[in-house]
Amino acid sequence: MLAAACAVHVHPADIALKPDQLAEACREVEGLLAVGVRVNEEVLSQAGKLRVVANCGVGYDNIDVEACTRRKIVVTNTPGVLTDTTADLAFALLLAVARRVAEGDKFVREGRWERWEFGMMWGADVHHKTLGVWGFGRIGQAVARRGRGFEMNVLYHSRRRASPALEGGLAARFVDRETLLRESDFLSLHVPYETGTHHLIGARELGLMKPSAFLINTARGKIVDEEALVAALKSRTIAGAGLDVFEHEPHLHPELTKLNNVVLLPHVGSATGETRLKMATLAAENLLAALHGRRPPNVVNPEVY
Ligand code: DGY
Repeated sequence: MLAAACAVHVHPADIALKPDQLAEACREVEGLLAVGVRVNEEVLSQAGKLRVVANCGVGYDNIDVEACTRRKIVVTNTPGVLTDTTADLAFALLLAVARRVAEGDKFVREGRWERWEFGMMWGADVHHKTLGVWGFGRIGQAVARRGRGFEMNVLYHSRRRASPALEGGLAARFVDRETLLRESDFLSLHVPYETGTHHLIGARELGLMKPSAFLINTARGKIVDEEALVAALKSRTIAGAGLDVFEHEPHLHPELTKLNNVVLLPHVGSATGETRLKMATLAAENLLAALHGRRPPNVVNPEVY
C-alpha cells in the first residue's frame, strides 16, 4: 500500500530505533509509520517536513502528541481492530493466574509431576466470581462480555458512565473506585496511560483489594506502581497478578520473576497474525490519508484541523 504511493524507507530490523537514530532517519520524511518507537521533541525538532505520525497501536503514550499538535503534525492510532484480541489475552492471563496454568506447565516440563494428588495445585474459580473492569472503552467492554460468558458478576468504573443500553446489554454495574477495588475478585485494567493514570494502582489501592483477588494488566505498565505490586504479591495482600505490561519494560522488577503467583507476558496483547495485519493496514491507511490531504479515520489530535 505504501510503496504504491510513496518512496518508502523501511527500518529493516524489528527493533525500535532510539530517539536520536529515529531523528536522523526522519530528517527528510513527510510521514512516519511508528511501530513501537518513541516520537519525542528530539525527533520532532529535526523532522521539519513531517506531516503525520501514524502509530501502529491503539495506545499512543510513546508519542508526544502535544509537541506534534504544536507543529500541526497529525497523529493517528489503530483502535477497534485489536479490541477482541487484547480482551482475549486479558482473559487468558486471568484464567492462567487463577488456575495456575503457567506454574503447572513448568511443573510438568521440569519432570516434577509424580502422581495425581487431590490436594495438588489448587487454584481459584473464575466462573460466578466478580469481575471488575477499570476503564470501559472498547477493550474494557470486550473483557466484560467475556466475563458474562463465564457467568461472572461484572462491575466497572470509568470516567464516563456508559449508557443504560450498554450497561444492560453487558449486565455491567457502574461502581465507584473504592467499591470496584473492594468487591472485585478479578480486577482488569483498561485505562490509557496519561498523567492522571500514573500509578493509579498503588499500595493504597492494592490494600483495598481482597486477599483472594487477582490484578490483570494488559493496558500500560506505568498505571501500576510495580514496587507496591511486588510487595502486595509477596505479602499476599492480593492473591496474584497477570501482567502483559510493565513499568519499565522490557525490564521487570527483579522480584517479579521469582514469584509463583504472577503470570508474565512480553507485551503481546494484540500479537496475533490476523490482528497485527489489520493494525498495520489501518496505520498505513491513516498515513496515506494524511499525506494525500484527507482527514485520516483515526486522528488523536483533531485540534490540528
Ligand atoms: C497497543 O496497541 O497499544 C499495544 O499495546 C501495542 O503498543
